[in-house]
Amino acid sequence: MNKSKLVLATGNPNKIEEIRDILKELPIEVLSKEDVGLKNIDIEEDGNTLEENAIKKARAIANEVEGMVMADDSGLFVDFLGGAPGVHSARYSGENSTDEENNRKLLEELKGVPMEKRGASFKAVMALVTEEGKIITVSGECRGTIAFEARGKEGFGYDPLFIVDGYDKTFAELGEEVKNKISHRAKALDQLKKEITKLLEDDGDADICSK
Ligand code: IMP
Repeated sequence: MNKSKLVLATGNPNKIEEIRDILKELPIEVLSKEDVGLKNIDIEEDGNTLEENAIKKARAIANEVEGMVMADDSGLFVDFLGGAPGVHSARYSGENSTDEENNRKLLEELKGVPMEKRGASFKAVMALVTEEGKIITVSGECRGTIAFEARGKEGFGYDPLFIVDGYDKTFAELGEEVKNKISHRAKALDQLKKEITKLLEDDGDADICSK
């Protein structure tokens, strides 16, 4: 059997590394969009849910390449704000907003809100399009509390404000090594690994049957 290919819709090198690392025991070749010559494909994330966005991105890439395709979308869902910024996390304080601006806006929205009402979840959804065009989605969630001020230097996005449950530290204080074991993305990737393993096993069975 040829080694299966998995093309990632993300252009974020940190995510690509993380995904390669988690899937490294599987007999698949993990490729970025750039690896397959799709550098300039830009897909608008205009869905109402993470799942819609992930599926839209995965389908768009799957139309262009061979092999399996995986796309993800993620965001921060704050209880007190009815789930905002949610699917709009990247552009919470406007188009092209920076992480600092988004964090400032979040702190502003939660001004005067006590610790016990500052619960939030990071969520990640991943959509896999199989070689046969079937869509499989998996998700991961990580609970925490929004801090009163930014803490820590590592990570990106809302990491300096997210105190993860079970730790007294923000993701930005904990750092990548710990975060990548417990994050919403790590949990979704774990599920994805199981789904790809199943697909490869089914494929193996089909190979044996056809001989
Ligand atoms: P995307 O999945 O890369 O489109 O991320 C959407 C947005 O959600 C990011 O720009 C961040 O603002 C936020 N976000 C998603 N995951 C994380 C995380 O692990 N840490 C901090 N912010 C995140």
